[in-house]
Amino acid sequence: MSKIYEALQKAESERNSAGAERVSRRSDYDEASARSSAAAVAEYQTPVAPLAQPEIYREPMAEQKAPVQASSSLDLSRVPRHPWTPTYSQLPALLERGPAVEQFRSLRSRIHELRDISPLKSIMISSGLPQEGKSFVATNLAISLARHKNSKVLLIDGDMRRYTLHQLLGCQPHPGLADYLAGKAEIVEVMQRAEDAPASDKVKAAILPNLTFIAGGNGGDKAADLSGNPRFGELIRIAAPHFDWIIVDSSPVLPVSDGVNLARACDGVILVARSGMTKYPVAQKAQSELKASNVLGFVLNAVEKPPQVGGYYGYDADLG
Ligand SMILES: Nc1ncnc2c1ncn2[C@@H]1O[C@H](COP(=O)(O)OP(=O)(O)OP(=O)(O)O)[C@@H](O)[C@H]1O
Ligand SMILES: [Mg+2]
Repeated sequence: MSKIYEALQKAESERNSAGAERVSRRSDYDEASARSSAAAVAEYQTPVAPLAQPEIYREPMAEQKAPVQASSSLDLSRVPRHPWTPTYSQLPALLERGPAVEQFRSLRSRIHELRDISPLKSIMISSGLPQEGKSFVATNLAISLARHKNSKVLLIDGDMRRYTLHQLLGCQPHPGLADYLAGKAEIVEVMQRAEDAPASDKVKAAILPNLTFIAGGNGGDKAADLSGNPRFGELIRIAAPHFDWIIVDSSPVLPVSDGVNLARACDGVILVARSGMTKYPVAQKAQSELKASNVLGFVLNAVEKPPQVGGYYGYDADLG
């Protein structure tokens, strides 16, 4: 992983020498970079403003009915289909061609190479702190995998506090992983697939049928407990025979333990570091938090590599 560490250290020293004059391309990243890690951690632990929640999420856990037992088999024909309206600006891997398609393709190749060495199907995407690009990388990687040789991909939003993947895919956030882990729903009830895309939309029509999604649900302040529930391992075990890949997005590992818990059930973890934002010690600390898991390597996200076509920032991968 030395390549990514070197890149982070170089970026950090360049940032320091550029001083206060440097103007970043995105104001939200400026804000995040300016905060100390501790402040970012504290902010993450502050409950987010509640989303509009259907009645089921207001029921106290104690009043729940007996947990729905996980069935040991999975009938994918029962998975409901809904209209999805993907946000193309956040999903460059969904485009017909372009630099992002190429870059996610090369990440995909690295992952295929790793799978040639040892069994690899379930991969969690994580990072130390918020806003480093976990959800962006997880969703675009899942799409890239799904467009290769008709591979069947299960994408799970494992961030039950700040779940966002449904926004990228343009679908419902509930019911989701939190409902399954709390024993309120069985696996097929929290899975969803897209309705058939019109044949005229060739890329969408080719990719979306290969993608199954589990949204975050709403874990709220129960997210840490839920992530430690053995039902997650059971979900991975039951789903694995039906998919070529399982990609799990996660919360940042430094503020909260959810990601570390979920990683235990996955075959591997890819860590994301964001160019111009992630500091070297944060990347190191994130890796050491996950030392009980199989950390495959780092993706250096949002690398500014001129010349780039379009508004997408590239990345570099150092896996293994
Ligand atoms: N390579 C990139 N190019 C352009 N935009 C990006 C890139 N990576 C991330 N972003 C944008 O940066 C923002 C934060 O990314 P994202 O939500 O993936 O981070 P995260 O690590 O999942 O954050 P959190 O921990 O809060 O869930 C999003 O608006 C995303 O679209
Ligand atoms: Mg995220």
